[in-house]
Amino acid sequence: MARNKVTVIGAGNVGATTAQRIAEAGLADVVLVDIVEGLPQGKGLDMAEAAPVVLHDARITGTNDYAETADSDVIVVTSGLARQPGMSRDDLLTKNAGIVRAVVEQAAKASPDAIIVVVTNPLDAMCHVAMDASGFPRERVIGMAGVLDSARFRTFIAQELGVSVEDTHAFVLGGHGDTMVPLSRYSTVAGVPITELLPADRVRALEERTANGGAEVVALLKTGSAFYAPAAGVFEMVESILLDRKRVLPCAVMLRGEFGIDGLFVGVPVVLGRAGMERVFEIDLTDEERSAFQRSAEAVRELVAVLDR
Ligand SMILES: NC(=O)c1ccc[n+]([C@@H]2O[C@H](COP(=O)([O-])OP(=O)(O)OC[C@H]3O[C@@H](n4cnc5c(N)ncnc54)[C@H](O)[C@@H]3O)[C@@H](O)[C@H]2O)c1
Repeated sequence: MARNKVTVIGAGNVGATTAQRIAEAGLADVVLVDIVEGLPQGKGLDMAEAAPVVLHDARITGTNDYAETADSDVIVVTSGLARQPGMSRDDLLTKNAGIVRAVVEQAAKASPDAIIVVVTNPLDAMCHVAMDASGFPRERVIGMAGVLDSARFRTFIAQELGVSVEDTHAFVLGGHGDTMVPLSRYSTVAGVPITELLPADRVRALEERTANGGAEVVALLKTGSAFYAPAAGVFEMVESILLDRKRVLPCAVMLRGEFGIDGLFVGVPVVLGRAGMERVFEIDLTDEERSAFQRSAEAVRELVAVLDR
C-alpha cells in the first residue's frame, strides 16, 4: 500500500516544523512547497538526510511547483506574511487572503480529493478564503487553532497544579484570537473540572494567559511567532485524519446552524477522521459561555466582511 501524501505549503517556521514531525513519525510522505526558490528544496533535502539517523522511510521533498503535490491526501496551508511594523490588521488580512487564495487554487486543482488544514492567520477568515478558492465541501476545509489553544491551556493547568500534562484535558471554543473562549467547566485533571480544583481567580488567570498565549511567545521572541506548539497541533489533526482515529478536537469549521451560528468558520469540537470533519460535537453552553462564544463569532464575521468589501 502506498504511503499517504501530505503537502505542506509554506516552508517557514510552522511549515518546516510540521513537515519534520510528519516525516519523522513515518505518518506520510511530505512535499514542502514555498514561493522562495531553493528554500523548500534545501529544507526538504536536509530533513531527508536526517532519516537514516532518526530512522524513518518517509520521502520528503521540496518544490516550487504544484505538479509535484498531485494526489495529496492532506494539504496544510501555512504560507503567509507576518504583520510588519506599520502594516494594519486589515492590510495583513487582505495580503494573506491573496496568498491563501493563490496557493489553495493551485493545490486543490492538483489534489481534488484532499483535505485542507488551514494554519495561516487570521485563521478563521483564511478558512473562508480556502473553502471558496478550493470549492471543497465543509468537511474537507478545517482550521488549526483550537488544538494549539487547548494545548496551551493544558500546559498552564499542569504547571499550576504540578501534575502530568497527560492527565489534563482542556476545552477552548470560538475564533482564534483574543476573543477565544476557554471553557474551564469542561477543562479537567483526571476528569475533575479545574473549577473544583482551583480558586476562581486562578482559573481566570489561566484562561487569560491562554487567550494571550500567542502574544506571550511573540513578546519573548521579538521577531516571528510560535511554531513548535502550532506544528504539534497540526500534526495531531493530520494524524487523526490519516489514521481515521476519530479524535474529538477543537477545530475551526464552517458551522451550519450548530451552536446557533450559520455560515461562519468558528472553533468548535469536531470528530476528525478519514473523511475530514465527520461531525460537529455539540455541547450545552451556559448563557455566559454562549454570549462569549457569540462575541467571538462576531469578531470572525467582521473580518470576513472586510474581505467581502
Ligand atoms: N493558526 C494558528 O494557531 C497559527 C499558529 C502559528 C502561526 N500561524 C500562522 O501561520 C503562518 C505561518 O507562520 P510562520 O511562523 O511559519 O511564518 P514564516 O514567515 O516562517 O513562513 C511563512 C512562509 O510562507 C511562504 N510564502 C509566502 N507567500 C507564499 C506563496 N504565495 N506561496 C508559497 N509560500 C509562500 C514564505 O516564503 C515563508 O517561507 C502565519 O500566518 C502565522 O500567523 C497560525
